[in-house]
Amino acid sequence: MTAPDPVTPAPLHEPVERFRGCHGTIVGGLQRLRGLPELAEAMRQARATAADTLALFEQQVLPHHGDEEKELFVAVSRSAAEGAERAAVDDLVARLVAQHRAVEGMWAALRPAVQAVAAGKTHPLPGFEQAVASLVETYLEHTRLEEMAFLPLADMILRRNPNHMAALDLSLHIRHAPMPRLAYM
Ligand SMILES: [Fe+2]
Ligand SMILES: [Fe+2]
Repeated sequence: MTAPDPVTPAPLHEPVERFRGCHGTIVGGLQRLRGLPELAEAMRQARATAADTLALFEQQVLPHHGDEEKELFVAVSRSAAEGAERAAVDDLVARLVAQHRAVEGMWAALRPAVQAVAAGKTHPLPGFEQAVASLVETYLEHTRLEEMAFLPLADMILRRNPNHMAALDLSLHIRHAPMPRLAYM
């Protein structure tokens, strides 16, 4: 008697063969199931990244723009020497403020899609990938302009007068001090 071939399954008769036929679908589904933990982990990471991004814009980016526009830019312009230096500062500030508005507009358009991802839904925005890439690239360009051009200029101008540097420091402290609780009258 010859041993059964381990590769070629033995022919079966209907309806027994139909039971084996079902295994094709079941085995295919089980192979996909193997990938589910990895996909679930990717979904968990997507939700966490989306939630962190919402917090980043609310708690860091938007207040940072406020600090720059209401305190830093004003202080540097005020301390700049009248004439060419102040014109250069104001020109740079106008560009930086325009970039803030552009980024804020991009964020406002992207926010609902990020909120949807944070809630575990698939993103509803067509061009989501492009919108994310544009926002990130625009913001990185903005930080480069500040770090390469504005901040060194600001530092040079403000350090001429220690009182001006101290005044900026104080304004920022006041701005970030916790709001006092108002007692009911
Ligand atoms: Fe900025
Ligand atoms: Fe900045």
